[in-house]
Amino acid sequence: MRQISLVAFLQAQNCTTIPSAWRHPEARIDTHSPEYYQHIARVLEEGKFDIGFFDDRLAMPDMYAGDHSETVKNGIRCTKLDAVTCLMSMAAVTKHLGLGATYSTTYFEPFHVARLFQTLDLMTNGRAAWNVVTSVNDNEARNMGRDSHMEHDTRYDMADEFCEAVLGHWDSWDDDAIIADKENNIYADPNKVRRIDYKGKYLSSRGPFTVPRTPQGRPVVIQAGGSTRGKQFAARWGELIFTGYPSLEIGKVEYAALKNAAAEAGRNPDHMKITTLFYPIVAETKAEAEDKRAAYELLGNDMDQLLLLSEALNFDFATKGIDEPFSDEEVEGLQGMQAMRDRVISSGVKNPTPRDFMQITRRGLLSDRNTWVGGPKEVADQMEEWFHAPACDGFVIGATHQPGAFEDFVKFVIPELQKRGVFRKEYSGTTLRDHLGYERAEIGSWKTKYDVVV
Ligand SMILES: Cc1cc2nc3c(=O)[nH]c(=O)nc-3n(C[C@H](O)[C@H](O)[C@H](O)COP(=O)(O)O)c2cc1C
Repeated sequence: MRQISLVAFLQAQNCTTIPSAWRHPEARIDTHSPEYYQHIARVLEEGKFDIGFFDDRLAMPDMYAGDHSETVKNGIRCTKLDAVTCLMSMAAVTKHLGLGATYSTTYFEPFHVARLFQTLDLMTNGRAAWNVVTSVNDNEARNMGRDSHMEHDTRYDMADEFCEAVLGHWDSWDDDAIIADKENNIYADPNKVRRIDYKGKYLSSRGPFTVPRTPQGRPVVIQAGGSTRGKQFAARWGELIFTGYPSLEIGKVEYAALKNAAAEAGRNPDHMKITTLFYPIVAETKAEAEDKRAAYELLGNDMDQLLLLSEALNFDFATKGIDEPFSDEEVEGLQGMQAMRDRVISSGVKNPTPRDFMQITRRGLLSDRNTWVGGPKEVADQMEEWFHAPACDGFVIGATHQPGAFEDFVKFVIPELQKRGVFRKEYSGTTLRDHLGYERAEIGSWKTKYDVVV
């Protein structure tokens, strides 16, 4: 029977994606200690999750009023640790859990990213994944030696080149390149190690690469682009896709479209698992879960919203009165997360005000999130409905607070899914590709018909 894939959406920061998460009475505040991440890793492995993955952003969300005081004071995602380093502490206490991290194609070099993730894949015996993002705002640019963020579609064009270089490097040692023949002094066969000599419009990288192939061949590529250009990019590269479909109906349409796009790119659509994000609020009974939700709702505030809207849309919302409309040019210029801007435009408000953005997107609040509230049966029913529709191949599980939300999910929902036969009781393999039902990656298998000659 087709099996659900489960991804835990993790943040190496002081709160979850929801800023108010740290204010939750049960939230741990030792979020900068290895013990905290190791505890989460153990919970996820006990729940037989496919993978836990960290998001990333290369700047504090301090765009609002051009200053970080409100961000730090309110604890709005004001810390952000390096994700791969946190993953290594989690790897040390687990054996199966896949481990993913987000790294930007705009602010790092392909050689660096290729080496980091291929090393992570070796050090975890084939459990690594790279979430490819192009980054969203000017503050990330300012932290990384530039004045402003690159134009939206151009950064995806650059990301295409970036992936060609990274995956080229990952494949530049044959599996049997290392001989380690001490007697005859042959460490590796020179004919089985290649330079990529990559030269694109935006970047170049020569090689030879310095990390050999890994137990799963190479790390799994994750992608979560939401714009038209982003989805085109995802269809080409993504082996595991993160989305946040707002409804079952939209999910069915988008899911089919992305699978078709992958097939058009010359890929096997079954080798692109699409997972959609929701935030479970679960308890023994539906009534208890509803009470929990009501309590969470009280933790958010206006500052959470204004700060995170500024960050996501790359615009300082403090420069506008709360009921002052954006001009046509200003709306057009919102170049961060375009899908979020488009949600507001398509709701019918032509010149939205900050209040419209707050009310329509609910950004920064728990209710911005796709929350599924209930006892084990209700949540499992909804998951099954989406999975069988099909609107997804699995789910990204977001946390209202950490680690409690994952503990609740593992305690209440996982056994119910296992009982229904739609989720594993035990891991059947050891690598992340095993968990996703993929073969070990062959050299060059990422080259689609959109490929340019490397
Ligand atoms: C589950 C999930 C996780 C994401 N994680 C990140 C992240 O860590 N960093 C980031 O910049 N964007 C993240 N995104 C957003 C997208 O990957 C993408 O960068 C963003 O939507 C802007 O590109 P777009 O205009 O193509 O949508 C995430 C999206 C989803 C659904």
